[in-house]
Amino acid sequence: MRGMAWLVGAACLALAACSAGEAAPTAVFDRLSIEDAAHGERVAAVLGCSGCHGKDLRGTDWSDELGVLWTANLTRSAAQHSDAELVAMITTGRKPGRELHGMPSHIFTQLEPVDLAAIIAFIRSKPVGGDVHPEPTFGPELQEMMKDGTYKSSAREVAEADASVPPVLGPQRALGRYIVRATCAECHGLDLKGGTPPFPGDKPRPDLTMMVPAYEPADFTKLMHSGIAAGNREVGLMSEVARSRFVNLTDDEVEAVRGYIVALAGSEK
Ligand code: HEC
Ligand code: HEC
Repeated sequence: MRGMAWLVGAACLALAACSAGEAAPTAVFDRLSIEDAAHGERVAAVLGCSGCHGKDLRGTDWSDELGVLWTANLTRSAAQHSDAELVAMITTGRKPGRELHGMPSHIFTQLEPVDLAAIIAFIRSKPVGGDVHPEPTFGPELQEMMKDGTYKSSAREVAEADASVPPVLGPQRALGRYIVRATCAECHGLDLKGGTPPFPGDKPRPDLTMMVPAYEPADFTKLMHSGIAAGNREVGLMSEVARSRFVNLTDDEVEAVRGYIVALAGSEK
C-alpha cells in the first residue's frame, strides 16, 4: 500500500483533476484479491512480466548471435530502486544511465497507477536473489539494424508509440481497450493490424480487426483460455501465449477484449 498511495497521488498531480473528484481511473484489471501482491501476480502474468523475467523474476538469458541480452533480475532491481524509479523504468523504457532493450515499455505507458503499484508489490514480495546479469552488447548485425531503424531501443519505441492508438471508444469499451493496448498490441501492433514482424522473414501476425469479429464468443474464450483456435487448431506462439498468460484473464476481461476489438472493426467500416 505504501507505493499505491503515492502513485495515485502522482497521477493526480499529472492529471491536475483529482481534487475536482472526477478522475476515477477509466479502467483497471478486475480485482480478484484485496492483497496488492496477489493482484499484481495475476496482472504480471497477463502482461508477460513473469513470462519474460522468469517465474522467480530473476531474469532469463536471451543472448544469441545478435548480442548479449538478459531480461533483468527484477528482485535485484526492486532492492535497488524506489517504487517511482521502477514505474519510470517500466513505462519509459529507460533506466538511470541508459535505454532498455527488448522491454516492451511502449505498451505499458497507459497502465493505471493501481495496477502498477500491485505489480511492484508482487515484485517486492519475491525473495531477493540470483545474479546481477551482464549489460547488453550489440553485435554487427544488430548495429546495422539500429542504424537503418529496423531495430529500436525500448525508449525509442515509447517515443514513437501513438498514445491515441488503438482509439478510445467510450467508457463501455474502456476495459477492453486498456487490456488490448497492454497485451495484444505487443505482437499484433498498436493498431492491432498485425504490425511489422519482429525480424525480417518472420511470419506476419494476423490483423485482429479481421480475425476477432469472425470468432464466435465461445470460441474466442476458448482460444484465450486454452490456446486452441477456432476449428481446434494449434496456432504456434498464440497458443503458447494464451496458455501462459491469457488463461489468467477473467471471463469478464476476455469479453471486454472481444467487445472492444469487434467495436473497433465496426467503427472502421
Ligand atoms: C517481451 C519480454 C518482456 C516483457 C513482457 C516484460 N519485460 Fe521487463 N525487460 C525485458 C528485458 C529484455 C529487459 C532488460 C533490458 C535491458 O537490460 O536493456 C527488461 C527490463 C525491465 C526492467 C529494468 C530493470 C533494471 O534494473 O534494469 C524492469 C523494471 C522491468 N523490465 C519490469 C517489467 C515489468 C513490471 C513487466 C510487466 C509489466 C515487464 N518488465 C515485462 C523484457 C520484458
Ligand atoms: C507474444 C505475441 C502475441 C500476443 C501478445 C498476442 N498474440 Fe495473437 N497471435 C500471435 C501470433 C504469432 C499469431 C499467428 C499464429 C499462427 O497462425 O501461427 C496470433 C494469432 C491470433 C489470432 C488468430 C487465431 C486463428 O484463428 O488463427 C487471434 C484471434 C489472436 N491472435 C488474438 C489475440 C488477442 C486478442 C491478443 C491479446 C489478448 C493476442 N492475440 C496477443 C501472437 C501474439
